[in-house]
Parts: sequence; C-alpha cells; structure tokens
Amino acid sequence: MKHIRSNLLALVAVSLVTAACAAPDGNTERSPQASGAPFGTAEDLRYAQALWQHLRQLRLVGKNAIHGTPYTGTHPHGAILDTLDAVIRVGHETGPVIVKRNYGGQGASKATVANTPERYLKAVTVMFKRPGYDPLNRDWFWVKYAADGSVLKNPEGMALVGRVAKGSTKGCIACHRTAPGDDLVFNHDRYAR
Ligand code: HEC
Repeated sequence: MKHIRSNLLALVAVSLVTAACAAPDGNTERSPQASGAPFGTAEDLRYAQALWQHLRQLRLVGKNAIHGTPYTGTHPHGAILDTLDAVIRVGHETGPVIVKRNYGGQGASKATVANTPERYLKAVTVMFKRPGYDPLNRDWFWVKYAADGSVLKNPEGMALVGRVAKGSTKGCIACHRTAPGDDLVFNHDRYAR
C-alpha cells in the first residue's frame, strides 16, 4: 500500500512538472498559485500599487504626468513611445526608475500622441532597480500597467509584475538580457557597471 502511494505521488509530481513545462508560450515557470512563484505574486502586486502611487506623486504617470517627446517604437512596446528616467525612493529602497508610456491604436503618430496622449495610451511599462532584489538580473523589478495603474496580464492570465518571467525564454527579462551593456537597458548604458 505504502509502495503504491509513493508511486502515485511520483506520478502526480511528474504530471505537475509536465503541466508547468507545457505552458503555451514556452514559459517554463510555474503558475503564480504554486509556491515560490517567480512573478505575479500578491506581494508583487502590492509593491506595484505602492510604486504607482509614488510615480503619480512625482508626475511620471497619471493625469498630470510630465510628457517627453514621443518617438517611434519597436515591437513589443508599441507604435509610439515616450520614456522618462528618474531616481526615486519607495519605502526604504532608492534607485533608478525607467517609465515608458506605450501608445498605439488607429491614427497614432508622433504628432497625434503629442497632442492627445491620453487617447492613445495603451500601457505603461516600468523598470525599477531595487537593491538586492534580483542580483542576476541587475535588480530590476518589472511591471506592465494599464493606463489606469492596474497591472496587465499575459495571455496565460499571469500578472506581469515582479521578476517577469525569470528563467523563461520569453518575457521582459529574457528579451532585455540581450540589451547592450549587460545592464538590461536598451536605450542607454548609464546604469551598466
Ligand atoms: C521582445 C523583446 C522585449 C520584451 C519582451 C520586453 N521589452 Fe522592454 N524594450 C525592448 C526594446 C527593444 C526596448 C528599447 C526600444 C524601446 O524604447 O522600445 C525596450 C525598452 C524598455 C524600457 C525602457 C528602458 C530600456 O530598456 O531602454 C522599459 C522600461 C521596458 N522596455 C520595460 C519592459 C517591461 C516591463 C517588459 C515586460 C512586461 C518588457 N519591457 C518586455 C524589448 C522588449
């Protein structure tokens, strides 16, 4: 009986691993419900909310946000973009933040976005460097917000917040690891060591 039970347990373990590996986007990470989830956890979501409040107070996001000059974007970030960098403090953590507004939709151009940004804003993607948060990936905390500050999800229903999607071949970290300067930042190497 004992033997059968341990076989059964092994079978369950194997099928759990298989299910995790078979995620349609090639994401080998476990679901957020599983313990040790790499991203999209309740803690990540709480942190994202606090971060949004800080960004709003500093006018980096939200209705009264400061605007940069829109530039033509590349996949996957959208047709027209506008990116601002600052150093901010969230709780006890101080570090650089990069806030990118992603604009798109019919009629989106540099001129139309400059005139009516709120009409075309599709998402706000943010990187915030938190000391000691993820040393292998330069300590970046990643989040993709909707225009209203809620956190967007990937097609598998996982919230795009935290160490997204560490260990996978897709997602924020995997793609940004190819950025020049080994700092996971494409637009410049200011934070490279
Ligand atoms: C398939 C590749 C790819 C993926 C996936 C990706 N990015 Fe990017 N990202 C880029 C490229 C290329 C740039 C630079 C060009 C630009 O400004 O769009 C960039 C720029 C950025 C910037 C401005 C800083 C910089 O690196 O220049 C931020 C912030 C950012 N991405 C956040 C995110 C977040 C958050 C996610 C995940 C939700 C993500 N990105 C997923 C390719 C990617």
